[in-house]
Amino acid sequence: MYKIAVCVSGGGTNLQALIDRIEDGYLEDVSIVRVISNNPGVYALERAKAAGIEAVCVSPKDYEDRGEFNKALLEAVRGADPDLVVLAGFLVAIPPEMVEAYPDRIINIHPALIPSFCGKGYYGLKVHEGALARGVKITGATVHFVDAGLDSGPIILQKAVEVQNGDTPQILQKRVMEQAEWTILPEAVRLLSKGKVHIEGRITRIDAD
Ligand code: GAR
Repeated sequence: MYKIAVCVSGGGTNLQALIDRIEDGYLEDVSIVRVISNNPGVYALERAKAAGIEAVCVSPKDYEDRGEFNKALLEAVRGADPDLVVLAGFLVAIPPEMVEAYPDRIINIHPALIPSFCGKGYYGLKVHEGALARGVKITGATVHFVDAGLDSGPIILQKAVEVQNGDTPQILQKRVMEQAEWTILPEAVRLLSKGKVHIEGRITRIDAD
């Protein structure tokens, strides 16, 4: 069994996409062993509980400083003993200790075509606000490995999505989720679970099925 821990901060629709793809058999021999949120009371935690998955909250507000929070976060991940850590809308800077503890074993879904609209300040709706303000005609989503930088690790999968007249950040966010994120995140987990993703420097090579 390929065990994944999923880190969330909000609504958890990407978590739901993983749950659904495990339930419908697309993800074989993959199990979500723990869901970790940095925010109490978010809907993602309810989704985990409804699917019978252990759900825990590690909130920075419960710790004296960032260092203590980072330790607790790493312990929450370690306690689940995952093969892979999936950041599915986890809006927290990943502590260097975590990257060191799980080299090439943390992935993130980002709601733009990296290297556009990524890095500092680009998260959630802000990404789509940036894309609309720049007037791009194509945006999309990216699944990438997490390294010591921000949105800078090797890219695993990307999918393009058209921007349409009249888009608001909210409308565009929904289209990017529906047409890209909910497809490529489970697909990346499937490829990784089958050992088909190889890192060569900053590049990934993916074996054909
Ligand atoms: C998603 O659009 C995800 O790509 C984004 O947050 C949203 C979470 O939605 N992540 C980032 O911006 C990371 N930089 P969800 O909670 O419904 O999955």
